[in-house]
Amino acid sequence: MADVFMNTYHRLPVTFTQGEGAWLSDVNGKHYLDFTAGIAVNCLGHGYPALVKAVAEQAAKINHVCNYYQSDVSLAFAEKLVAACAPAGMRKVFLANSGAEANEGACKIARKYSLKKHGPGRYRIVTLRGSFHGRTITTLAATGQEKFHRDFGPFTEGFLFVPPGDVDALDRALDPSSVAGLLIEAVQGESGIIPQDEAYIKAAARFCADRDILLMFDEIQCGVGRTGTFLACEAYGVRPDVVTLAKGLSGGVPVGAVLGGEKTADVFEPGDHGSTFGGNPLAAAAGLVVLDTVHTPQFLGEIRGKGERIQGILRSWNHPKIKEIRGRGLMIGVDITVEAWPVLEACLARGLLILSAGTHTLRFLPPYTITNGEIDQGLGILRGILD
Ligand SMILES: Cc1ncc(COP(=O)(O)O)c(C=O)c1O
Repeated sequence: MADVFMNTYHRLPVTFTQGEGAWLSDVNGKHYLDFTAGIAVNCLGHGYPALVKAVAEQAAKINHVCNYYQSDVSLAFAEKLVAACAPAGMRKVFLANSGAEANEGACKIARKYSLKKHGPGRYRIVTLRGSFHGRTITTLAATGQEKFHRDFGPFTEGFLFVPPGDVDALDRALDPSSVAGLLIEAVQGESGIIPQDEAYIKAAARFCADRDILLMFDEIQCGVGRTGTFLACEAYGVRPDVVTLAKGLSGGVPVGAVLGGEKTADVFEPGDHGSTFGGNPLAAAAGLVVLDTVHTPQFLGEIRGKGERIQGILRSWNHPKIKEIRGRGLMIGVDITVEAWPVLEACLARGLLILSAGTHTLRFLPPYTITNGEIDQGLGILRGILD
């Protein structure tokens, strides 16, 4: 493989040139069925005709507007996104380029909200052990996994971690004299597709509301329909103060979003925050197609149905190498008794792309547009390898 990239990824030996639907092809013309969607990014699959058309047409019209002005398409995208998140109480959005950048915005909102309302010293943000919130110095500090902290300190101060599911530990950690916010993935992605317990999320929402601590959901991997509701937190019936999105939001064009509700929509004032590319017209044009396509009851129902199909097939195998299957919608984790990485390599050799999360968990994040036939075909390949 080429030696020009910094050595940051365990790359598999394949170079793609083209994609169509749930399929990718490499430089040698070999085809691969994609159960990864670029880690939850290509949610409409590859080369989705309406998205291709929208981006191409937008590129020909105007591809960037400095944020001192406004573009028609970015405004339309922001309006549609806020409307899609209104049932969860969201009222306004800041558009960014990536998940980490969106989470940085969320942390800034929490700190400023708390400072203005409660005075100095109340700046801490609580996150969960096993969480993943990004790779910048601050979002690494927010990430509750020691392995990411090696070599890069000192970090932004003020993050503390609690074990997921432990209501008493959360109660103790959410000290209203020092804590500004709680940042949670409704379904943890990188640590193995771990949906949070409903009673836990409800308790978290109650503590946050009672203590005026912001309840912030990082929906960068699990949002935008991935779990079968537009926002994963909707399934818990709680109203967050902040939601962050990225990945699938523009179906493959870089984007990020911080959404704010009643308490937080107006925390930022001119000069507080910004991003050169944030809300770029190309990302907005693509995002409009994603929202128009995904945010319908029928489409979200299909995501749930396809997820149930995958889980049903996996369970029906009763396979001795499968220990546990979990997840919601098209966000599925499978714990196996053998190491995940050699399984990934064997799948790649047979034309199936899947992900791992940790050493013994397979992670499926297929495009929402995958067909039942493609699901069966991909699972058939996996079954052959597990056997
Ligand atoms: C839950 C979650 N938060 C934040 C991030 C960081 O997003 P990005 O890589 O776009 O900065 C990720 C990426 O995997 C994620 O899964």
